[in-house]
Amino acid sequence: MNRKAWIIGASSGIGAAVADELQSKGWQVIRSSRSKGDLLIDIADDHSVEKAASEYQEKYGEFDLVLVMAGFWQRMSVQKFDLDVFKQHNNTNMVGLARCVAAVLPKMIAKNSGTFVGVSSVAGFRGMPGSSGYGPSKAGQLNFLESIRTDLVGSKVLIQTVSPGFVKTPMTDVNEFKMPFIISAEQAAKTIVKGIEKRKIEIIFPLPMAITMKLARLVPLSIWPKLFKKG
Ligand SMILES: NC(=O)c1ccc[n+]([C@@H]2O[C@H](COP(=O)([O-])OP(=O)(O)OC[C@H]3O[C@@H](n4cnc5c(N)ncnc54)[C@H](OP(=O)(O)O)[C@@H]3O)[C@@H](O)[C@H]2O)c1
Repeated sequence: MNRKAWIIGASSGIGAAVADELQSKGWQVIRSSRSKGDLLIDIADDHSVEKAASEYQEKYGEFDLVLVMAGFWQRMSVQKFDLDVFKQHNNTNMVGLARCVAAVLPKMIAKNSGTFVGVSSVAGFRGMPGSSGYGPSKAGQLNFLESIRTDLVGSKVLIQTVSPGFVKTPMTDVNEFKMPFIISAEQAAKTIVKGIEKRKIEIIFPLPMAITMKLARLVPLSIWPKLFKKG
């Protein structure tokens, strides 16, 4: 693998830490976000993604490793359901990821090489309280990445899925609820970069959260809501 990485969503949190970790290991890192970086991009906007991808090609050449970290989270229960907030989650997380795939994958497929990394969440594994906007967008990302990976069987293009548990970042600093097994962005970045270099299909962490959420998938639909009964 060529050691050149485009990190989309690299100005703060896990993306900034992954960019630093890759750089410390000798990778050439191109950083992007809406507010700062080598190339500005808004993944919630078709034109912005197309423009950034073509600027990338002009400046840096081929896509070797592209990692889409950018994401949006806002707690929302069905009692306070807001369709605009639901759409915002999907437009950034789900369609935003698809915009990046549309801009980058055809080039990787044409040269039969390259790695595309999508960052979802363990929140996509099951429906959770307060996650009626975020959860479905993260579940959609998991399914989307899995689907395109099956299309690429036999190709040398690698699709990797990252599913973090709780990580301390500006995104989670607003949360007032308990976040079990929370880790630092630096710890998350080390695990992600190790997984990228080992070409793992699924990078899920930290281990106690990974085990919990894998097991959670086995809980029957009829029992699942009862686990959240208060009092
Ligand atoms: N933190 C966690 O506990 C956790 C757990 C599971 C999954 N995740 C996922 O991990 C990813 C990173 O989360 P984080 O906690 O590191 O969040 P963060 O600190 O808020 O960082 C998000 C990054 O994405 C950029 N960004 C946001 N919206 C964008 C857009 N529309 N277009 C381009 N860039 C955009 C932000 O910069 P600008 O604002 O300048 O654009 C920033 O660089 C997200 O996909 C999140 O869902 C996080």
